[in-house]
Amino acid sequence: MSTTNASTYRPDPADLPLLRGTAIDGMPAYEALVNEAQTDRLGFWARLAREHLTWRRPFTRVLDESNAPFFKWFDDGVLNASYNCLDRHLDNGNANKTAIIFEADDGTVTTITYLELHARVCRFANGLRERGIGLGDRVMIYLPMSIEGVVAMQACARIGAPHSVVFGGFSAKSLHERMVDVGAVAVITADEQMRGGKSLPLKSIVDEALAMGGTDDVHTVVVYRRTGGSILWDETRDCWLHEIEEAQPDTCEPEWVGAEHPLFVLYTSGSTGTPKGVQHSTAGYLLWTSVTMNWTFDIQPHDVFWCTADIGWITGHSYICYGPTAVGATQVIFEGVPTWPNAGRFWDMIARHKVSIFYTAPTAIRSLIKASESDGSVHPRRFDLSSLRLLGTVGEPINPSAWQWYAQEVGGGRCPVLDTFWQTETGGHMIAPLPGVTRLVPGSCTLPLPGIDAAIVDETGVELPNGQGGLLVIKQPWPSMLRTIWANPERFRHGYYPPELGGNLYLAGDGAIRDPETGYFTITGRIDDVLNVSGHRMGTMEIESALTANPLVSEAAVVGRPDETSGEAIVAFVVLKGPRPADGDAKQIADQLRAWVGKEIGPIAKPKEIRFGDSMPKTRSGKVVRRLLRSVAKGEAISQDVSTVENPAVLHQFSQHT
Ligand code: WTA
Repeated sequence: MSTTNASTYRPDPADLPLLRGTAIDGMPAYEALVNEAQTDRLGFWARLAREHLTWRRPFTRVLDESNAPFFKWFDDGVLNASYNCLDRHLDNGNANKTAIIFEADDGTVTTITYLELHARVCRFANGLRERGIGLGDRVMIYLPMSIEGVVAMQACARIGAPHSVVFGGFSAKSLHERMVDVGAVAVITADEQMRGGKSLPLKSIVDEALAMGGTDDVHTVVVYRRTGGSILWDETRDCWLHEIEEAQPDTCEPEWVGAEHPLFVLYTSGSTGTPKGVQHSTAGYLLWTSVTMNWTFDIQPHDVFWCTADIGWITGHSYICYGPTAVGATQVIFEGVPTWPNAGRFWDMIARHKVSIFYTAPTAIRSLIKASESDGSVHPRRFDLSSLRLLGTVGEPINPSAWQWYAQEVGGGRCPVLDTFWQTETGGHMIAPLPGVTRLVPGSCTLPLPGIDAAIVDETGVELPNGQGGLLVIKQPWPSMLRTIWANPERFRHGYYPPELGGNLYLAGDGAIRDPETGYFTITGRIDDVLNVSGHRMGTMEIESALTANPLVSEAAVVGRPDETSGEAIVAFVVLKGPRPADGDAKQIADQLRAWVGKEIGPIAKPKEIRFGDSMPKTRSGKVVRRLLRSVAKGEAISQDVSTVENPAVLHQFSQHT
């Protein structure tokens, strides 16, 4: 491994072939694939699974639908995800290709080749095994963006231990909740994380979570020394990551697992108060991350790929840890934040690392547009972005004006902008343009990828004609779909295959509409009680439960309101147990409640606004009138009929800002 100064660093000009380059070459090729998937669905998926994955024992069955919607794919096949992401590159001439260019918060750059990454993963995997961790054991990962994050995830995959990564911005309570639900035996964390020049604790949050009880199965806490900051140490449980690695050989026989073996469980928000553990398989998941790296991102041997997501979210799983490594790509991983030391950081990094494919969230783009308007020195035009050839977005709808700015100012009018629609549950891209194939329309994710059978239906499951908005569904199972909700199969069945739609359609939870002429899809936003704040999914119920857990609070209702930068902003309507606070006190109580939500869930869930009323506006049957609260949050005059509201006067109280 080499550490160099950021200013002198140039990427390793590895001139080595990728495993394969299978970009879709033109519209006829796209149509041929769509056709192949329609006429011989199983043959299509079997072909891709043979071409993209290296199997220890080939599968003979493609799809088992006997227990639908609990589908099984390639289930008698045997393989290992880490072998597919690492070992196979060592034999095909890519051993010395740069796998990761890691840039730390302070600009220090570290690179690691596939050979070195393989060795680190093997050493760490051996160390985990030595501590009795193996097939089927669940391991929590609570790490900053780092090479170690990828090493930890891949090491778990190597020994068949499903990982569950928790975003470093979640609180001890959220970590604890996930740890208990998944039944973890170990946690991998760091002493601290560095973001925007500040150190933030991680290990002490793990300690706090473990002190909450119900986690007796956790016998090991592995700590990556990131900052050297002082932490408490429990000799019986804690060990340093570098010490674990040091003592081990750099080869490790993978645990060969069945195709359906759970690769990971990743928690995400739904319509209830508790997050759900989305369980993914090994083969189907890895297959689609690899295929979409080729199809959507057209990954080529010389590309430098950069996905700015955090490994705590699905985007970081599919397009950092697994997809890029499965195809042997070179990628950038960034520890810090886009606005530090200034809002030109992304553009500066693209220029220095010669990034050719850049994948980020609309929120980041919108905030960088704002920043460059007030400070011309951080405008993307000030940087040499000529290495870019493809741009992507994910996580939330992108407004056409931000799309245009991204295409023009960042892409110089040369780079297609790929608006990729997908979800934690789908494992990889579902509806997305293909570079050089799809005519782009700002604000539309365009057409489903071959093999993805997307449609728009009404509330009874009847398909709607183009031009009519409705519910987005997927009609046929696909290999990278979630397999179940961890420890809650009924929540999976009811939530994703609702009986109202006939029980055989996957319900994405988003509204969508298709263009009458082109058939292009535009996603119109969530149809359930899930908010999308800066591309992060937050359940309104989760925030409400956190608020009502505060001793001051009697009732709470949370809604989203459109926000120029973050897409949606969280607005909480609160009724206190005591009297409604006077103007002077309201701000202080609101701050107190915001801090409370930060503790209960994490800083990302803090409401932007908290408003107080004497009671909650409800119908006579006792239902909170969320529709009206949404209007109030937007600052709209209430023109709707309020005759069904029992206490309409409180709507006026709630209209006041604190
Ligand atoms: C939203 C992120 C519009 C959508 C990969 C979805 C999008 C939720 C897009 C999933 C897009 C994601 N256009 N909306 N291109 N991509 N979404 O699970 O509401 O964190 O249901 O997965 O984000 O968020 P998740």
